[in-house]
Amino acid sequence: MTQAKTLVILVRPNLEQSRVNRRLAAAAAALGSVTVHDLYRHYPVFRVDVEKEQKLLLAHERVVFQFPFYWYSAPALLKQWFDEVLTYGWAYGSGGDKLHGKEFGLALSTGGPQEAYQAGGYNRYAISELTKPFQATSNLIGMRFLPSFVLNGVRTLPDEQLELAVGRYAEYLTK
Ligand SMILES: Cc1cc2nc3c(=O)[nH]c(=O)nc-3n(C[C@H](O)[C@H](O)[C@H](O)COP(=O)(O)O)c2cc1C
Repeated sequence: MTQAKTLVILVRPNLEQSRVNRRLAAAAAALGSVTVHDLYRHYPVFRVDVEKEQKLLLAHERVVFQFPFYWYSAPALLKQWFDEVLTYGWAYGSGGDKLHGKEFGLALSTGGPQEAYQAGGYNRYAISELTKPFQATSNLIGMRFLPSFVLNGVRTLPDEQLELAVGRYAEYLTK
């Protein structure tokens, strides 16, 4: 099977109220080789179709989880998705090699500014530290963890800066 390049798993409740993730997702969807899959639209009551999700993963080489940072992690539906989709014997454990060699990326937006995410800063820890559970998950399922795409300080981000970030995101998804 020929594989489309990149699957963006978008995890943002009430997307119509979003400024940043809605804009980034629209730009991603406009790219030919990118599939954008809006989890909250498909599963508003958290009933994940595991077979459908696994098929989507198999059909792509790179998977990017895009979300606003909520309580130093992802919105809740993504946790449910990991718990149910990454099954034993499929994603890990005996015979669980279906995702081996694929790429695993994170694209996240934060309210906090970049300088808050460091030792001594308001949020104390770097994003690379706070996202270690994702990195460990990627490792366990045999995927290659990419450098994360991070957009900080989005509450006060001017529109022009957002548009520049949109360009960088398109590059991140396709290069
Ligand atoms: C429930 C909730 C939790 C949040 N937790 C964090 C957080 O831990 N760190 C942070 O920098 N921003 C946090 N924020 C701010 C969001 O990350 C920010 O509003 C979002 O990235 C903006 O993206 P959007 O325009 O797509 O909504 C939180 C926002 C909400 C609603």
